Amino acid sequence: MDFNIKSGDPEKQRTACVVVGIFESRRLSEPAKAIDAVSNKYLSNLIRRGDMDGKRGQMLLLHNVPGMISDRVMLIGCGKERELDDRAYRAVIANSVRALNDTGSLEGVNYLTELTIKGRDHNWKIRQAVMTAEHTLYQFDELKSKKKEKRRPLRKITFTVPTRRELPQGESALNQGRAIGNGIKLTRRLGNLPANICTPTYLAKQAVELGKSYRSLTIDVLEEADMKKLGMGSLLSVSQGSKQPAKLITIEYKGTKKASKPIVLVGKGVTFDTGGISIKPAAAMDEMKFDMCGAASVFGTLSSVAEMKLPINVVGIIPATENMPSSTATKPGDVFTSMSGQTVEVLNTDAEGRLILCDAMTYAEKYNPEVVIDIATLTGACVIALGKHASGLLSNHNPLARDLLNAGDEAGDRAWQLPLWDEYQQQLNSPFADMANIGGREAGTITAACFLSRFAEKFNWAHLDIAGTAWLSGGKKGATGRPVPLLTQYILNQLD
Ligand code: BES
Ligand code: MN
Ligand code: ZN
Repeated sequence: MDFNIKSGDPEKQRTACVVVGIFESRRLSEPAKAIDAVSNKYLSNLIRRGDMDGKRGQMLLLHNVPGMISDRVMLIGCGKERELDDRAYRAVIANSVRALNDTGSLEGVNYLTELTIKGRDHNWKIRQAVMTAEHTLYQFDELKSKKKEKRRPLRKITFTVPTRRELPQGESALNQGRAIGNGIKLTRRLGNLPANICTPTYLAKQAVELGKSYRSLTIDVLEEADMKKLGMGSLLSVSQGSKQPAKLITIEYKGTKKASKPIVLVGKGVTFDTGGISIKPAAAMDEMKFDMCGAASVFGTLSSVAEMKLPINVVGIIPATENMPSSTATKPGDVFTSMSGQTVEVLNTDAEGRLILCDAMTYAEKYNPEVVIDIATLTGACVIALGKHASGLLSNHNPLARDLLNAGDEAGDRAWQLPLWDEYQQQLNSPFADMANIGGREAGTITAACFLSRFAEKFNWAHLDIAGTAWLSGGKKGATGRPVPLLTQYILNQLD
């Protein structure tokens, strides 16, 4: 999709469709009032007759509106003006984009970015509008033999700002929205690809491709032999059960010459999680192709940051492997030595995410990180606790946790913090090794984070459990692209 930014009166737009908002009940937004004025009260008459009262979800498409040079005028219900919050704004933008796409208009000028949202500036509104538009129109059809070709597809959306003065700012917000939108699309694509295509080797190739698109990105791929030399016994204990070789992928973004410490993102890249010898039940096991969504979010975030050319350093580290049962697979009770030197008794081979992340986190030390944030579809318990609405957040540094919670709020991609108290650590005690890889039924999300915390002693660290947020099940099954909005917002906020 092409996006554009503009200021100017609705009656002067020579376009296929002008989109404006109507509030409940029967109140015109400012751009709608302008149309009403040039059309001899065409809109207010229509609304008085009861064709539309402005409830959210309503849409009315008008042709040949007097005084207008656009082919169409689309009225979008925005609900009560007082109640127009972040969530309502996104819903209204999504409705308008969906409707615009259905009209047969090739392009349109959308005035909904001029709505007033409490506490949000033009930057935010434009950025969110572009991201929401991309999100709404996303389709994953590359594996369908017959694609649904649209006869008259929507090609370009122009969003507006009230005056010329806001244009430069709006332009930069548009670029940000576009870059983040593209990052989200990349994340969703990698997540949606099935595990027979999206293997660790495939992810490594995709990283190399990304490196070709942006000169600011440097790619490095470690093979199993390299990992063995580094002593990554924990990561290799997971990959040893699979014919697909594991890869440790690093994507390094240098946006500033200054020797500033990087933000390091570590993404769980289990391209398929059968559970291993502690095998999972059959129901919905197909969804374990999404067990690399943490990795996919690192791809998406690095690509967004590179597209925005942000003056900051970011490193993405992706341990990628399958978790399979086989004659070479890890057996419950096996003990391995991690790169940190700490030993782990693997009581359940299905708690594999933490086993690959811990070695990747130790590896992260070599980048002298400002902070380390790991992103992982780590525990079913997190889905039970928070559902599909919030990612779980645990951290050894409260200011970092605050920053991430705020970024999630701002981006509409929220997280919720759980405690990382010492009391929980003892659940990982093992009679045979330094620790076990599971902590029993209670507080599963927290004990998983406790395990990781033992590999984060040397830096400020936060863990995002995205088991509930990374994909949707049922009729809308597919990757969501979360938490790329949160991560990119967090990185943007580090600049000012
Ligand atoms: N990838 C799963 C977590 C998961 C399960 C995410 C279901 C989304 C939906 C992870 O590797 C796993 O299997 N975790 C186990 C840990 C347990 C064995 C301690 C879990 O949550 O059951
Ligand atoms: Mn598992
Ligand atoms: Zn897993």
